Amino acid sequence: MTKLDQIRAAEARLLLSTYERNPILFVSGEGVHIVDENGTKYLDLLSGIGVNALGYGHPVIEEAILRQSLALIHTSNLFYHEGQAELALRLTERTGMDRVFFANTGTEAWEGAMKLARAHAGLLRSEGKQIGTKFLALEQSFHGRTFGSVSTTYKAKYREPFGPVVPGVEFVRFNDVDDLRAKFSSEVCAILVEAIQGEGGVRPLTLEFLAEARALASSTGALLIVDEIQAGMGRTGKWCAYQHYAISGAPADGSSSVGWIQPDVTTLAKPLAGGIPLGAVLCTEEASRAIHAGMHGTTFGGGPLACAVAIAVIDHIEKENLLAHVTEIGDYFQEQLRTLSARHSAIVDVRGMGLMVAAELDSAELAKLTVAEMLKRRILINCTSDTVLRFLPPYILERAHVDTAIAALDEILTEHSGTAAAPQPATQSAAQSTGGMNHV
Ligand SMILES: Cc1ncc(COP(=O)(O)O)c(C=O)c1O
Repeated sequence: MTKLDQIRAAEARLLLSTYERNPILFVSGEGVHIVDENGTKYLDLLSGIGVNALGYGHPVIEEAILRQSLALIHTSNLFYHEGQAELALRLTERTGMDRVFFANTGTEAWEGAMKLARAHAGLLRSEGKQIGTKFLALEQSFHGRTFGSVSTTYKAKYREPFGPVVPGVEFVRFNDVDDLRAKFSSEVCAILVEAIQGEGGVRPLTLEFLAEARALASSTGALLIVDEIQAGMGRTGKWCAYQHYAISGAPADGSSSVGWIQPDVTTLAKPLAGGIPLGAVLCTEEASRAIHAGMHGTTFGGGPLACAVAIAVIDHIEKENLLAHVTEIGDYFQEQLRTLSARHSAIVDVRGMGLMVAAELDSAELAKLTVAEMLKRRILINCTSDTVLRFLPPYILERAHVDTAIAALDEILTEHSGTAAAPQPATQSAAQSTGGMNHV
């Protein structure tokens, strides 16, 4: 029995069966590669589902972990340590927000944001404003697995086994401004969106939709909450994906002085501390008004270790100009996928922002098979929304890695899709017509 077989047998006996794991035992990693027990290297275009932004074995992360773990790992939130204010300053300066609450994971940050919205609406009511407790979320949304988060997550399969979930959530059709207007009222305490949906298939909001959500929320005092757990912290080439949405296209309702459509609240997690669990709720001064000592909290959130690593990650991203690199390599990735789509009609769309990239295929079966074939070729990707190949590589990806992935996809689609065509200019591809997010 191999070591992997032993672990599989033990997990099958001992763990809740929540995951369908691939039968690979990873033991180390370096750069954009992760290495299994046999020393086989895999090109990781998924980075632990958008977490390992600086790849594996990064000296800046290793040094921060070592330094902080030798000094202090945990204090609880009953006492001060050096990291929270220092990290909060970096985050607020880069996002247009004023205040931060630190949590541990994405879903926990999202819970905090939802609670903040309810408390804020309560405060407004106490001040005589007419505002309710309802949440508007979007179809195809994903916000996490805890009760509040799963209640605002669209797919029934995530919610229904656990019903009744948190009441008072209504779903709006994705990017449908009329539906948003029809469902919005003074009953709503917050509009909840991802600027670019991740699990929902790497789909960006239109500028028109986000601008309308901003205007509607501002009209009643409801909060606009943008979930940047997957798209934030540089993944799209900006610190937050909402910063791609230029205010010039938005209604002049005075809601932003920062050049982009500014939400009232945003949430971060995944890559925030380069692989150490850390989540954050960021909000404006106004949105924070209802929160007082004792109303919300966490034992671990914003601990010294996670904060020290997050500070190191942010400083490194800035020092190495990685946001510009993410934009450049992300554009190159999309370009290469579009060229590929001209040769394979099975690719029906290419879209994304920065290094949050997707190629949508014409069948779920082919998408599943492509992920499996990529794995056989030692390249990690995944498939979301049945037909969408999703790429969330580390920010340190280089063109040569993109070329390797494209060559593998070309080979797989040639072999399995039966849709390979003679090379054509990329402009004739189906993907080009809907290609992506470069609308702001
Ligand atoms: C947009 C978004 N929100 C929330 C979450 C939940 O984060 P976590 O898995 O850390 O709880 C995810 C995770 O995939 C996500 O992509």
